[in-house]
Amino acid sequence: MTQEFHKKAIQHPIFKLIGDTSKELGVESYVIGGFVRDYFLKRGTPKDIDVVAIGSGIELAKKVASKLKGKPQVSIFKNFGTAMIKHQDLELEFVGARKESYHRDSRKPVVEDGSLEDDQNRRDFTINAMALALNPENFGLLLDPFDGLDDLDKKRIKTPLEPNITYSDDPLRMMRAIRFATQLDFTIEPKSLTAIAENKERIKIISKERIVDELHKILLSKKPSIGFKLMHQTGLLPLILPELHALQGIEEIEGQRHKDNFWHTLEVVDNISENTDDVWLRWAALLHDIGKAPTKRFHKKIGWTFHAHEFVGSKMVFKLFKRLRMPLNDKMKFVQKMVLMSSRPIILSEDHVTDSAVRRLVFDAGENVDDLMTLCEADITTKNPKKQKKYKNNFQIVRQKIKEVEERDHIRNFQPPVSGEEIMKAFNLRPSKEIGIIKEAIKEAILEGEIPNEHDEAYQFMLEKGKKMNLKPESNK
Ligand code: CTP
Repeated sequence: MTQEFHKKAIQHPIFKLIGDTSKELGVESYVIGGFVRDYFLKRGTPKDIDVVAIGSGIELAKKVASKLKGKPQVSIFKNFGTAMIKHQDLELEFVGARKESYHRDSRKPVVEDGSLEDDQNRRDFTINAMALALNPENFGLLLDPFDGLDDLDKKRIKTPLEPNITYSDDPLRMMRAIRFATQLDFTIEPKSLTAIAENKERIKIISKERIVDELHKILLSKKPSIGFKLMHQTGLLPLILPELHALQGIEEIEGQRHKDNFWHTLEVVDNISENTDDVWLRWAALLHDIGKAPTKRFHKKIGWTFHAHEFVGSKMVFKLFKRLRMPLNDKMKFVQKMVLMSSRPIILSEDHVTDSAVRRLVFDAGENVDDLMTLCEADITTKNPKKQKKYKNNFQIVRQKIKEVEERDHIRNFQPPVSGEEIMKAFNLRPSKEIGIIKEAIKEAILEGEIPNEHDEAYQFMLEKGKKMNLKPESNK
């Protein structure tokens, strides 16, 4: 191997300090992993820096910290043999080179001292195993025993060791392989793909939180479908997202077929990713059709139906989030709402778009109406250019109408123009169901466009409604 130096990558003074300090301690040190990979990928300068010491990483971290301005705290993770320092905007993680890393049935590492090569052997991918020396005598020297540079060049995900060993050591790496392939638009080498398929069941020992971290990174990539296709291909999909897996397949009865909702969903996710970086809206795109698997029916006269799939799907979102230990908070409620309402603008755009239908849509979607429109536009996956144009055009009309209606009626964050207090006062009522009836009637009249969303008109409407209900206005008593 020719000796290549890359001092440019480690210009920051911290690297020299680490190198000099390790020499004082009589150990060697290297920067390794994502930092080196991203430098060669020109992905900017990463703030997470992994340093491996041929000796104690914890001792090195302590000594480095003692020399830094402000003497930052060293967080020590004894079980893992690692130590972390936050310095300026950098996060420095120190680890001693290790030989073997993991038990078979858990991710708990066995720490055993090793050489740099031992350490590189036990890393996940060749592109993550490259190291740059920090020692004064070979500062900047690239140590790349598995030719990770060539794999970066060929856009390849490859494991340093036999893939079965690497994945079995730490099954999270199966998801990491798929995630890197998606983020970087790399190919996972065939041997590795086969090993993932063979080891897929071992994903079960990985915590849900870590899996979800990877799912988020896949979803936030430019083209998330790459990752979900790989999960499908390797058999990880049914173990992690069975709801999505269940959408696969086309059934045909009496010559009538329905579309494959899995592949359709992936197109929708890619589409939406061109228009939003909001991970929760991307989740909504991923899950918008999950209710279709359990609601699928065939009727002789009308063919395939997915009755109430939006409602069923929104209930499934809760179960899915719970199973994956995702937050059951307003983010989940947002995803549920998007799934529940995912067909509304479509129905609307198919017919003649009326103002009242638009007002109802804005009323129900509230502040999320723009996100809902973004989702529905992404849902257009027809390959028929004429239809494609027609649907897009109709959505433009809906968007325009939303704007007009909004300017006029301010429905988005609807506040009743006449308060319950006012109604009680006007008819000298105690709190009672009549108040609810009148309030609902006012809201309906506004949504139907019978009256504008203004106090005086609504008050007049209230008086008339009360009359019809045989309520006596206060002044007539
Ligand atoms: N690593 C590994 N196996 C894992 C996780 C990490 O071998 N399951 C090694 C890899 O060498 C990796 C390094 O530890 O490069 C640092 O891991 P991490 O910070 O999680 O990932 P990065 O590679 O830095 O990438 P990203 O920041 O995009 O997650």
